[in-house]
Amino acid sequence: MCGIVGYIGHRDAYPVVLKGLQRLEYRGYDSAGIALYDGEELKLCKTKGKVADLKEKLESSISTKGNVGLGHTRWATHGVPNDVNSHPHYSNSGNLVIIHNGIIENYDALKKELKTRGFTFESDTDTEVLVNLIEDVSNKEGVKLGKAVQIALNQTVGAYAIAVFDKRKPNEIVVARLGSPLAIGVGEDEFFIASDASPFIEYTSNAIYLEDGEMAVVRRDKGIKVRKIKDDSLVDPYVQELQLNLEQIEKGGYEHFMLKEIYEQPSAISDTFRGRMLADKGIIRMAGVDDNIERISNAKRILIVACGTSWHAGLVAEYIFEDLARIPVEVEYASEFRYRNPIISENDVVIAISQSGETADTMAAIKLAKEKGAFVFGVCNVVGSSISRETHAGAYTHAGPEIGVASTKAFTTQITVLTLMALKLAKHKGTISHPDFMLLLQEMERIPGKVKLALGSNENIKFIADIYKDARNCLYLGRGFNFPVALEGALKLKEISYIHAEGYPAAEMKHGPIALIDEQMPVVVIATKKGHYEKVVSNIQEIKSRSGKIIAIVTEGDTEVRDLADHVIEVPETMELLTPLLTTIPLQLLSYHIAVMLGKNVDQPRNLAKSVTVE
Ligand code: F6R
Repeated sequence: MCGIVGYIGHRDAYPVVLKGLQRLEYRGYDSAGIALYDGEELKLCKTKGKVADLKEKLESSISTKGNVGLGHTRWATHGVPNDVNSHPHYSNSGNLVIIHNGIIENYDALKKELKTRGFTFESDTDTEVLVNLIEDVSNKEGVKLGKAVQIALNQTVGAYAIAVFDKRKPNEIVVARLGSPLAIGVGEDEFFIASDASPFIEYTSNAIYLEDGEMAVVRRDKGIKVRKIKDDSLVDPYVQELQLNLEQIEKGGYEHFMLKEIYEQPSAISDTFRGRMLADKGIIRMAGVDDNIERISNAKRILIVACGTSWHAGLVAEYIFEDLARIPVEVEYASEFRYRNPIISENDVVIAISQSGETADTMAAIKLAKEKGAFVFGVCNVVGSSISRETHAGAYTHAGPEIGVASTKAFTTQITVLTLMALKLAKHKGTISHPDFMLLLQEMERIPGKVKLALGSNENIKFIADIYKDARNCLYLGRGFNFPVALEGALKLKEISYIHAEGYPAAEMKHGPIALIDEQMPVVVIATKKGHYEKVVSNIQEIKSRSGKIIAIVTEGDTEVRDLADHVIEVPETMELLTPLLTTIPLQLLSYHIAVMLGKNVDQPRNLAKSVTVE
């Protein structure tokens, strides 16, 4: 939700900030803006639309000179996306300028108060209220910018990552975070500020990630001073060496990040195994699980909390954990869990799944579970993210940066981590036999190669996509381990192609959705061998007799479904429990090709953002 970038140093700020915004555009892209300070003037340009629109407008309207810059790419919360509501926002005097990711919940009360003191507002945003509150504090108390920001933030309720610049103090930028991420890149007499490290990796590999409740005064000449917003205590900042490289955040010859990330899945899954699984020796090492093995394996119940695609990974994990480790599992939307007074005890283990590690609803669910005494285990992709820090223990997915807004490799690597975890618990509890354990491990090791083979159906999938790209609706059906995959397939299609799609357990079709089936309705059915194959074949017959169009995902060599379906897409054979790692692949490619054929913006679908840091 919104990307923020800042620069202060000896370079021209404009190219740094502009490129930074392009890299952060996955976080929000309904409007964008940049403020530049050239030593005399503080100039601002903002516009509704994408960073490319901003570039065009800015270069034809203001000078791009200046060694200080702040930029913002927005996902609207308060106020429609338009030029005025875009960030940065000036204070009334024009001396201060701010960029903000988050929500100031009590902005309305603060705004009313500020109005009584003569402040006026141009926009509908909470952010413009915050910058004027800072100005008001600074006028009233006669304090420096850092102090004014601190006093103002202590009057707010909500979430923020902010950067504030005062043209009367041109050597410093003040930043602060609570609930939204903020990284500071530390260079030689130059500093970078961003929602994540991608805007500055070519300039420095040293970064400070502010913790929640911290602020920093970043001075070009004197370095960085970090303190707690609440009690003013000084914090010794930890300068971290970044593992990220430029190649990981570029498209590497693919037309879209989503396609690159789909094709990265064989290596992403291998990376997730690396150092954890020794299949021939029957060993799984996961520090976060090993260190807490009794606590987790003795859990009365595992509660999984997540949102969107991560929630679907949680549903797959429910089947796997119950099957292997025989621990009861419940999977909850984090947003529902946090507001429904759930029954949680100290004997529960909560697993929070999040690619970004920043999702506000998941974070709030974790806090609630911790308050009630549960042990919380995080499965995150982004190293050092808020959720990975808030949980008691965890395991990273090691998928590498996922930039396409539609989640792909995060999903399969989440399932991989959760499968390893379930296997480890099953072995520890004795709920799996040694031969079965070894078989599963050996098959897991073959999965990256099988994912590669599944990707080999790309041309066939493209052909099918062309036939169904104009469909208005689409049904996805699956059973058992593949029911959540059907949900995920439907989500992928709707979010990037805007075609209405629904996922159902195949057998539920006859309880309602079957009424939708006619010759216009494509139905994607996951019908791999084993499991409930025969039952799914019956479901396919039911669709066929109502003239529905059947696209079936089948096991290599299948002939029975081939005779019934309009189209088949083959995936290699594997053990039933591991099929989601393969059946997901054609569904990702199908939605990708349909969206491309419809001319949609695959990497940045409308109304969405990569990390949802608001409720
Ligand atoms: C769908 C998608 C979203 C995310 C959801 C949770 O493709 O990307 O549904 O899965 O917003 O995000 P994380 O996993 O970052 O918590």
